[in-house]
Amino acid sequence: MNLTAQAPLPFDHPVYVTRPVLPPLADYTRSLEQIWQSGFLTNGGSQHQDLELALRAYLQAPYLSLFNNGTLALLVACQALQVKGEVVTTPFTFAATPHVLAWNKATPVFADIDLETLCIDPASVEQNLSRHTSAILGVHVYGMPCDVNAIAAMARQHQLRVIYDGAHAFGTQLEERPIIHHGDATMLSFHATKLFHSAEGGALCMTDPDLKKQVDLLKNFGIKNEEEVLLPGINGKMNELQAALGRLVLQHVDAEKQRRQVVRDIYTERLRELLGLRLLSMPVNATDSHQYLIVRVNASQAGCSRDELHQRLKKFNIITRKYFYPLCSDYDCYKHLPSADPRRLPNAHRVASEVLSLPLHGALAKDDVHRICDAIAFSLSHP
Ligand SMILES: Cc1ncc(COP(=O)(O)O)c(C=O)c1O
Repeated sequence: MNLTAQAPLPFDHPVYVTRPVLPPLADYTRSLEQIWQSGFLTNGGSQHQDLELALRAYLQAPYLSLFNNGTLALLVACQALQVKGEVVTTPFTFAATPHVLAWNKATPVFADIDLETLCIDPASVEQNLSRHTSAILGVHVYGMPCDVNAIAAMARQHQLRVIYDGAHAFGTQLEERPIIHHGDATMLSFHATKLFHSAEGGALCMTDPDLKKQVDLLKNFGIKNEEEVLLPGINGKMNELQAALGRLVLQHVDAEKQRRQVVRDIYTERLRELLGLRLLSMPVNATDSHQYLIVRVNASQAGCSRDELHQRLKKFNIITRKYFYPLCSDYDCYKHLPSADPRRLPNAHRVASEVLSLPLHGALAKDDVHRICDAIAFSLSHP
């Protein structure tokens, strides 16, 4: 039983789970002046070229293509790699993951997740393979790496494509190697809620130069040159205003990571004292992408459920997120699928009822984090 007598004061403004890194406005104004002078607003101008080069270097990406958002990047990856039939994926993710499969006329087949990493469980992937399977779409959820070696071995054995939704995995390393080196392609999201962002945006990281060519063709309507259109492509291009913002935000990413580490350390220290709460932490061989701070609530030990905690914290103006709940397999558009049967996804169901995303960003003062922890401790025992 967790008992805390004193109720902390509510915040006088809502505290959200994240807050975008914003460069000094004067810096962005200077970039805008350059854009105005160039007269180029999109179609791979100098800001776009700059950002692509800078990100390739920062992420150690052999090949990288920028997109106007991560969802389109994933959609194009599926097209370029010709996924069809069935694709084994996780239900514990954001809606975009299975949706890109549906938009590619492939059927998502939901496999269960591992209880520690919360990523797709290779044993369950194996059980869900069929002669119709063309690919595995894993998600490095919260930046936690999937079991990339087991997935690669299975893909080799069954001749499957491997695509990773790495929306949360900007800069993640596994055994000192960038996670984006694994699989045929990895998508990164640069949405404003992500550590590195361009307001909206995304990228595909690849190791095969031919795939990069195909992806670039597909993201530009399939246009090869003035007179030839080769494929039914789409408009996935990142524009110059997004790229310029991304170029500046990149300069602040390392400092933001350090600030977020300070916040994480306080949560780790404080929440350790509370029975029934467990902070999700990276395995020792992986680096933290500093995008999410996830706590798992064991209702029978904590004295209150995840949903109750989420609700009670609102009284303190702390707006947490049940990220990811509901599972994609419970969406109206997928719940009819045989693989969406809850009896086949026990771990995913358990985890989706336990996880709560807490505020994590560099603008949180140490006192704010202590106040959030006080509110959590109080809420566990006070309806
Ligand atoms: C796991 C996951 N996949 C895909 C996306 C979609 O990315 P975007 O918003 O850049 O389209 C998100 C966005 O938050 C996500 O969390």
